[in-house]
Amino acid sequence: MKKLGILTSGGDCGGLNAVIKGAAFMALSKGIELYIIPNGYAGLYNLVDQESLVLLDPHRLDQFDANFAGSEAGHSRVKIKAISNPEKYNRIKEGMNKFNLDGLVISGGDDSGSVMVDLSMNGISCVHAPKTMDLDLQTYSVGGDSTINRIAQFVQDLKTTGRTHNRIIVTEVFGRYAGHTAFRSGIAAEADCILIPEIPADWDIVYEHAVSRLTRRIRQSDVHAGTYSIVVAEGLKNADGSDIVDEAAGVDAFGHKKLAGAGKYVCQELKKRLKADKEMPVFMKETGMFVEGIYELPEVREVTPGHLVRAGNSSAYDINFGYEAGAAAVLLLSEGKSGVTVSKVKGRKIEFIESSKAIEQKYVDLDQVAFYESIGICFGRKVASYEPILREVDGVYDRIY
Ligand code: F6P
Repeated sequence: MKKLGILTSGGDCGGLNAVIKGAAFMALSKGIELYIIPNGYAGLYNLVDQESLVLLDPHRLDQFDANFAGSEAGHSRVKIKAISNPEKYNRIKEGMNKFNLDGLVISGGDDSGSVMVDLSMNGISCVHAPKTMDLDLQTYSVGGDSTINRIAQFVQDLKTTGRTHNRIIVTEVFGRYAGHTAFRSGIAAEADCILIPEIPADWDIVYEHAVSRLTRRIRQSDVHAGTYSIVVAEGLKNADGSDIVDEAAGVDAFGHKKLAGAGKYVCQELKKRLKADKEMPVFMKETGMFVEGIYELPEVREVTPGHLVRAGNSSAYDINFGYEAGAAAVLLLSEGKSGVTVSKVKGRKIEFIESSKAIEQKYVDLDQVAFYESIGICFGRKVASYEPILREVDGVYDRIY
């Protein structure tokens, strides 16, 4: 291998620039030239029409930081299979031949990974460096930790305004149909309630938990102040399993419904119950807050950080993992591998798995949820029993997510 291309695809996130830099530094050390394929699969499809490509040499690598989230290579959400041109794979091959590219490092999530599997099956050599803030792949994916840290900070920060106004604050976060980021950031921010797609919410349970904590906090505070935080994953389901979506939001290039509305929905359900609760005006009077016709109930507010959860800076963990995943992908390509996903670099061992397996959806482990329920966090369902199984292990370290 003399020349390779790198592309990043899907939703951007933290750690992607570390993937690019890791791949580039490893390529440099192996005497391989690594070029940016700009703007994901759109750029790959149109490579044949490009005049030139950016070479990632030491000077170019100095121009962006591994610490910046987003990707210097740019993104698009394009499914190659869905392009009507019957010559699409040949067009891509022609583009690669034009620039003498022997293979591709592709960093993406499940959708981009499925395209990568498709390309590999069509004779294009490529290795996958896993990325998605959703953390729903079988391997760890760059971006997850950065997003979790950012959400945790937002939820924590929102407690100051929540407590000042004695409000219930509902933070709706990205993550599609897996609740990993809501779950782990909610734990990190000491959220009171975490609602994830894996558990259809029972609104009476959420309400009871919210009201009992909020009223206790306000009653016990010498200045009658308190808040209650909820983190809700955008992919939360209704009790009947259907999506909570804003139908006007439409679908993305992969045909997924654009999720929007879970936070609003949580607010509606809580407001309905607050209104119907006869004890509420009594509580408001007892704590000196009741003002007839103006302020009769505690307020519930929804905050949607949206793309902020994957913007800004990358976490140290993602920069480390990103470097390793990018560099390992180059090593795998140079050893003739294709259609595989880097899972871990452990000293001299570069671990990888077949990409078609790596991109299978991974959901939140409900036993892990039961563990946190047993220490008081509400997940919108009746608390499941948590019977621990004790097991002595011999120095094995596994990461939390
Ligand atoms: O898959 C990553 C992700 O951030 C999802 O969590 C979210 O639903 C989606 O991308 C948003 O995509 P876009 O940036 O295309 O609106």
